[in-house]
Amino acid sequence: MSRVAKAQLVKYSRLAHSRGLTAAFGGNLSIRRGNMVFIKATGAVMDDMTAEQTAVIDMSGRQLSGVRPSSEYRLHLAIYRLRPDVKAVAHLHPPYSIVASTLLEGELPIITPEAEIYLKRIPIAPFRPAGSEELAEVTAEALRNADAAVMAKHGIVTVGETLREAFYKAELVEESAKLWYLSRKV
Ligand code: 13P
Repeated sequence: MSRVAKAQLVKYSRLAHSRGLTAAFGGNLSIRRGNMVFIKATGAVMDDMTAEQTAVIDMSGRQLSGVRPSSEYRLHLAIYRLRPDVKAVAHLHPPYSIVASTLLEGELPIITPEAEIYLKRIPIAPFRPAGSEELAEVTAEALRNADAAVMAKHGIVTVGETLREAFYKAELVEESAKLWYLSRKV
């Protein structure tokens, strides 16, 4: 089971990087299996991530693997605790979403039927320092009634029953931000 989870993390991490949903050292994905969470190791680059760069923690944050978890593990755990239905989390740094968060407050507008069907709403969570408990709290709260949120001046986070679902929701958030930005009347 852990081999499958690790393979999924590698597949979607590389895909996210190649699709431009994150760059350089940014972003981290995770999968929950019961009391265990498989998550990208801190410092690993999603573009060339390997299965060995997967950390395993439990729901209390205890490290179960040799490698250290992403610095955003608090964010992932806060979401899993608040949303037992969620089995995968994607945290990425897509450029249009980050730009939109500097121009908008409240929510990212929903423009297309696809976004309406799959996301319904995209709240914007306030800025808090990366890796902090405060960031975990305000972002998880934004996801109480939504499957996607923009993290102001930082990135986005999406959730799903599978990592595939969380990944495509992330792509849809970035498309929504891009469409909003390009259709703005300035
Ligand atoms: P990690 O390498 O610790 O996952 O950090 C990347 C990141 O995006 C922090 O927000």
